[in-house]
Amino acid sequence: MRPFTLLSTWLPLGSVLAFPFNSIDRTISARNNNIHDAISELQPLLSQDAVLIQSSDPGWDELQIRGTSPRISPDYSVIVEAATAADVENTVKIAAQFNIPFLAVSGTHGWTKTLNELKYGFQINLRKLNSTFLDEGAYTATIGGGTLQHETTRDLFAYNKQAVTGLCECVSVAGPLLGGGHSLLQARHGFALDNLISADVVLANGTAVTASSDTNPDLFWALKGAGHNFGIVTSMQLKVYDIQSNWNVNVFIFTNDKLETVLKIVNELDCDPNRPTNLVLEGVVTRIPNVDPENPSFLYIVSYEGTPEEAAPYFAPFEAASPVTTQKFTDVDYLSIYSVTKSSLDSASCTRGRNALGSGASLPYWNVTAARAAIDIFAELTADARYADSVFLLENYGMQGVRKADASASSLSAEEREYPNLANPTIWWDGEEEKDTEDAMGREEDGTRVDDMVTE
Ligand SMILES: *[C@@H]1O[C@H](CO)[C@@H](O)[C@H](O)[C@H]1NC(C)=O
Ligand SMILES: *[C@@H]1O[C@H](CO)[C@@H](O)[C@H](O)[C@H]1NC(C)=O
Ligand SMILES: *[C@@H]1O[C@H](CO)[C@@H](O)[C@H](O)[C@H]1NC(C)=O
Repeated sequence: MRPFTLLSTWLPLGSVLAFPFNSIDRTISARNNNIHDAISELQPLLSQDAVLIQSSDPGWDELQIRGTSPRISPDYSVIVEAATAADVENTVKIAAQFNIPFLAVSGTHGWTKTLNELKYGFQINLRKLNSTFLDEGAYTATIGGGTLQHETTRDLFAYNKQAVTGLCECVSVAGPLLGGGHSLLQARHGFALDNLISADVVLANGTAVTASSDTNPDLFWALKGAGHNFGIVTSMQLKVYDIQSNWNVNVFIFTNDKLETVLKIVNELDCDPNRPTNLVLEGVVTRIPNVDPENPSFLYIVSYEGTPEEAAPYFAPFEAASPVTTQKFTDVDYLSIYSVTKSSLDSASCTRGRNALGSGASLPYWNVTAARAAIDIFAELTADARYADSVFLLENYGMQGVRKADASASSLSAEEREYPNLANPTIWWDGEEEKDTEDAMGREEDGTRVDDMVTE
């Protein structure tokens, strides 16, 4: 099983822009003066609702917490909570003028280790740009750059509409979209990025531009798939769709020895030209001691948008593989599906303040020999109580909509439109012991054991 490329997906970045400039050789006091002078210039330019937060202010600690910390913990000198796009423009202008690095933050995932390279500078917090408006005609919505997925899902649901976002509710709409954006709706409507109509972007010099197929088309192309470093997206216009019907979900728990059987069922479904566009398959290998105290178990979630009768033939092969338990959810609406499929705000994937080591690979089919070898590494690592609640995701969202979209219209690598499977081991642990981090990685050279799992 050879991974080809990575895609910002289940574990997407917040919208992020970092300019390290030449900060390394500065002294601390020169930096502090610099920040002080920059803040003095910036303050009068900010809108009434913008907030400048320094380390002594209440609220500082809360705004440091990421989906994973302390492993990813940029060293901000000050946080600018922008309340308007003009606040973002002015902050970036001042940052450029004073040669201060900055990082834009909306959701709190963003696991990329290079974010730690920010040793001083601005956090530009976009959470106040959290609006979702259904546009006239109801074919598109305008969504603020700091909006989280659950906010957009909730606001559009009130109109029986939905947008193609990523999956974890705690993540921004912009973050996964700029890198691709796997989704429950991708088999029908493509990746999240395929649904972008236009974006308002603040460039590195603080100039705000619009990017669409007509205006700045090169920037528009770049944003769709390679978007995290071309600018700060303050607002986006996305296509929206009528919600068609509710979902039926079966959550199967298999013992680990069923891995091969289940993955072969998935391979067969992928070869079926009539695979429905409303079928989503999500697998999680994880330890469930009361199912199997020795080995990880295999949770497999099959979701079908439609009636129980329509869904039944797609549940049947998994039922025939003899799960230990099956939980059946019927009539699940598009708000509740995120809880049922374990990507809601209170799910493990949205837990904050833990350490995480993850890696992902898109794969053309499930090679059951390689998957078994990867799961064996995972089993060994998670036999250690420190890492026992880690997960190994084996996902498959369906590809018709993704393949139908015009690949040349986005900078996303073409393989991502071909490869239906996503393998994504994530090791979680608590605390700040360096030893625990070293042991999670397994070794210092040639990547980590997580890399071994995805390169199997
Ligand atoms: C959402 O935006 C509003 C309006 O700017 C702001 O008052 C609110 O604090 C924002 N929500 C969060 C969670 O930041
Ligand atoms: C900012 O950069 C853009 C893109 O390079 C350029 O078109 C624009 O003129 C610049 N703005 C200023 C004020 O220099
Ligand atoms: C499956 O993976 C194994 C182990 O990595 C490898 O030896 C084999 O060639 C792969 N098979 C196919 C069909 O790719």
